Amino acid sequence: MTQTLLPKKMRTAHLAEFKNSGFKFSCLTSYDQLTASIFDEAGIEVILVGDSAADNALGYSNTLPITVDEIIPFGRAVAGAASRALVVVDMPFGSYEVSAEQALENAIKIMKATGADAVKLEGGVRSAAQIEAITSAGIPVMAHIGFTPQSVNNLGGFKVQGRGESADALLADAHAVAKAGAFSVVLELVPADLAKVVTETCGIATIGIGAGPDTDGQILVWTDFAGLSAHKPKKFVKQYAQLRETLVTAAQQYRAEVISGEFPEPERSFEA
Ligand code: KIV
Repeated sequence: MTQTLLPKKMRTAHLAEFKNSGFKFSCLTSYDQLTASIFDEAGIEVILVGDSAADNALGYSNTLPITVDEIIPFGRAVAGAASRALVVVDMPFGSYEVSAEQALENAIKIMKATGADAVKLEGGVRSAAQIEAITSAGIPVMAHIGFTPQSVNNLGGFKVQGRGESADALLADAHAVAKAGAFSVVLELVPADLAKVVTETCGIATIGIGAGPDTDGQILVWTDFAGLSAHKPKKFVKQYAQLRETLVTAAQQYRAEVISGEFPEPERSFEA
C-alpha cells in the first residue's frame, strides 16, 4: 500500500496506524544536522540516532564504547534538524542494563538534552523491566531484538538469531517488549519467516534490518545505504548511492586543481 499524505509530525501512534493499514515505513540512521534534514525532507518516517555513531562517526571499532554524554550531541543535532520525522535516540551500552532506575534516569537525561521523541534499547525479556519503567514515565521506547550489536561478544559475532530451536526465545522476546510497553521493535538479522510471525503476532510495529520483507518497516544505517563505508556491504544492505566514490573523485579533482593553480579561479577571488 502507498501513502502519500504523511502527517506533519510523525508520532509513535502513526507507526501503529501504518501497521494496521499495511503502509510500509522507512527508517534511516543519522548522526548530524545535514543528513537529518535531508532524510526529513525526503519523507523518511523515522530517524534513528543509532549507537552506530560509535563506529560511523567516532571511530570506535564497535558500538560498545559510546557513552550517553557522547550520543547526546548527535541526538540534539538530529532532533533539531528533523521537523517531521520521528527521532529516536539509542541508549548506549552500560546506560540501562544495571536496573530499571538506571535506565529511567538515562532515558530522562537523553530526552531532556536532545529533544528527541523516543529512546531505543536492546534486549527482549532481559530488558522488559527497563522498558516498563521508561514507558511508565511517559517516554516512548523502541526495542531491539535478534542480533543486538551491544551483545556482540556474547552472541559470538555478527550472526543471524532465532534459527532452529532459538526461534521460541526470539518470539518470547518480541512479546515481552510489546507487553512492557514498547511502541515498536527492531528485528536485526532474523530469518524472514520468523520476522513475519513476529510481525503478525506481537501487536507492535516491527522494523527489520536483515529480517526480510514482511516487517512493518525497514531500517538501514545511513552510511551503508549511501555507499559511504569503506567496508564491503553486508548481504542485507542495498546501496542507494555511491557517495564514497563520488567524494573520492571530487577530492582528487580538487587536489589536482589546487596543485595546478586552476582553483581558485579569478571569479572566486576578492578585489582590494
Ligand atoms: O545503532 C544502529 O544503527 C542500530 C540499527 C542497526 C538498527 O541500532
